[in-house]
Amino acid sequence: MAQMLSDTYTGNLKAKKEAGNRFTDTNLIPWTAFFLNGVDYKLLDFTGDRCTLLVKLEKGTKLAIHQHLGPVEVYLMSGSFGYVDEATGESHMIYAGGYLYEPPSTVHQPVSPDGFTGIAVIHGDVLGFAADGSQVNIGPIDYYRRAKENNAVAHLNFDEALLPA
Ligand SMILES: [Fe+2]
Repeated sequence: MAQMLSDTYTGNLKAKKEAGNRFTDTNLIPWTAFFLNGVDYKLLDFTGDRCTLLVKLEKGTKLAIHQHLGPVEVYLMSGSFGYVDEATGESHMIYAGGYLYEPPSTVHQPVSPDGFTGIAVIHGDVLGFAADGSQVNIGPIDYYRRAKENNAVAHLNFDEALLPA
């Protein structure tokens, strides 16, 4: 049975800042350099298997090809972001105000001709390749650890007891 919002009609529903609510001024979070050159991020939220990032790419950035095991969402506030479909040769881009959703297992090699600032929500691991050809897995926990080394996670109040050993 669906939960009813009957309190709305009786006037008993009151807005409240719960202990877990976080009102964050992202200007106070330092940028953390990503694992790849030209990419910086601020970790806005982290659940262990999903992270929400404010991301900034330098103009002309071209990332190494990689695969996302989970879905990815990207919203651009400025700049450009996209990639070429190697099967068709077609270029697919988003610009300021653009939104990209990718289902699990997507493989892409993004470019950002103008650079960009945007929000990215990443579920699960990213699989890529190191310079020597070996496979590299980067998960949300790696984003967290790297940001923590940069003193950029205090706003999350994340309970590290929830992390795997
Ligand atoms: Fe990606």
